[in-house]
Amino acid sequence: MVRVAIIGCGAFAESQHIPNCVAHPDVEVVALCDLRRERLEEVARRFGLERASLVTDSAEVFRRSDVDAVLAATDHSAHLPLIAEAARSGKHLLIEKPMTMTQEESLQALRLVKQSGIKLCVDYNRPFSPSMRAIKEALEEHRTDPVTSPWRSKRAPGFPTLPEERATNLVITINDEIDSYRPQHLDPGRGGGQILGESCHWFDLACWLIDRRPVRVLASGSTRLSHSVTLDFEDGSMATLFFSVCGTFDYPKERYELTSGGALFLNEFFVETAVYGRGEAVRKTYPMQFDDLRTEVPEEGFAAYLAKRTLAQRRFLETGKMPALAPDKGHQALLNAFIRAVRDDLPCPVDERRGARATYLSGLAIQSIRTGMPVPVCREALDAFVQP
Ligand SMILES: NC(=O)c1ccc[n+]([C@@H]2O[C@H](COP(=O)([O-])OP(=O)(O)OC[C@H]3O[C@@H](n4cnc5c(N)ncnc54)[C@H](O)[C@@H]3O)[C@@H](O)[C@H]2O)c1
Repeated sequence: MVRVAIIGCGAFAESQHIPNCVAHPDVEVVALCDLRRERLEEVARRFGLERASLVTDSAEVFRRSDVDAVLAATDHSAHLPLIAEAARSGKHLLIEKPMTMTQEESLQALRLVKQSGIKLCVDYNRPFSPSMRAIKEALEEHRTDPVTSPWRSKRAPGFPTLPEERATNLVITINDEIDSYRPQHLDPGRGGGQILGESCHWFDLACWLIDRRPVRVLASGSTRLSHSVTLDFEDGSMATLFFSVCGTFDYPKERYELTSGGALFLNEFFVETAVYGRGEAVRKTYPMQFDDLRTEVPEEGFAAYLAKRTLAQRRFLETGKMPALAPDKGHQALLNAFIRAVRDDLPCPVDERRGARATYLSGLAIQSIRTGMPVPVCREALDAFVQP
């Protein structure tokens, strides 16, 4: 049994960490910590965790001998102090994204982890989504064994294979809703804005999917709200993120489109994937993590998700209660991998070097917007983060 404490029992912990820990057969939640006592009492009651200790000072969590690992979902400004406390007390830590707010903080975090030997896992969950793993698998298979659709027109005789054809290009579209942000997310001292606070997810994901060294960042828009960012990679691959806060959750929030070697790999909000250009198109659907409408709409996939959203809205207007609908973005799988790493002394599923890389790339995107210029990725800086 891994004995866990959760620090920061706000919206995210309530929607993921707490229910995922409660559902895990090898996890015992021994302590909940938040600055707000009334919040602690509320979540303890809701999840039947009356036996867990409720504490308002995180230092107490790290002093306890009955805590093996800590999950933290607080303001971003608390991350480095929590990493330092975890290192001092020798407790393993799953920290929310972004791991740290600056490159300097990342170097400190790396040093602390190295000196203490704790496992630090950063909650970059998207690569743990079953749909994203399926896309990555199909992409890798295509890169090693490219298959061309038999009905594709033949290349003109003598036309050479061009270097650009070897690239993998990714477009990520984020349709976000302004109502999902609270003042602390945009506060430069507490949250750092949406490039650092949210787009760090997609910098990590782009590096994981494309699996090449990023060399340049070009961004425009707002450093705290809507923005577009292009990462260029060493082999000519590109990842472009378009993040708009002027949208609506009446439509799914995330869409991923990868093209590589004459094929297209599509991920529609973690509920459906499609691969085109390798013979007959292959579409797959994925069950959602939470789906209160499963019995009314038993189908899976994108069209079914839209139908469930419409039904959920109608239900809300009728009852004042919104049915839970959450595609599987990999939160639970990442938590399970972290618990496994702690229990069996395995490497961390998303380690501090990956956390540092995403914070670094976020900083470069912010710098690019501020200067109106593309910013090179410094090889030595990246190596400091990615080398063991
Ligand atoms: N991985 C993901 O996909 C994902 C999604 C949403 C949010 N998050 C992350 O989760 C974290 C929390 O976000 P949220 O939306 O739940 O915010 P929130 O404001 O709802 O919750 C944060 C909670 O932490 C508490 N807190 C702050 N500092 C604390 C401290 N030092 N000690 C104890 N408690 C403290 C606050 O009182 C609050 O209850 C953020 O890092 C956010 O980026 C991750």
